[in-house]
Amino acid sequence: MLKDMELLQFPDERLRRLSEPVENFDEELKLLSKEMLKIMYQSNGIGLAAPQINKTVRMIVLDVSEKRNEPMVFVNPRLEKVTGKVDSSEGCLSVPEIRATVERYKQIELCAQNIDGSEIRMKADELLSICIQHEIDHLDGKLFIDYVPNVKLQRLRKKIAKQKKLSSQKPQGTSVSIV
Ligand code: NI
Repeated sequence: MLKDMELLQFPDERLRRLSEPVENFDEELKLLSKEMLKIMYQSNGIGLAAPQINKTVRMIVLDVSEKRNEPMVFVNPRLEKVTGKVDSSEGCLSVPEIRATVERYKQIELCAQNIDGSEIRMKADELLSICIQHEIDHLDGKLFIDYVPNVKLQRLRKKIAKQKKLSSQKPQGTSVSIV
């Protein structure tokens, strides 16, 4: 069971698959959402998408609260309306160590279903908006590093390798959202 729930990591090709819409809002889905939240909290992430644990279904979980006590589950999420642009400093549980700035929409209108299948419509901005966009990308097989030019990625990798060699210090950036 645990093996089934492994957290996939780049460059695992399974992260590139397109996830399927959820049709059955059954017990299995509820269990999966709970498992996803557990893994997200254990990994200190603020979001997790089902394909990251090798489940190709369109479900994401997140918690952007400071106290880490406001779990959210969105099934079949999609962006209805987007406005503005914002630079976002991101990391990803499936892409260890890399942190990079990517451009996201500033405000979004989210259309989704909750774990029981009822419709959700909400507006989001700031961290919540960014996190939702990052997680929906996972459902489409997209990673945040896809937005980063290759040259820059290589530079980042070199820097990380160098840091590792020089010291045992953790990469800096406490304000980075790991999703
Ligand atoms: Ni991610």
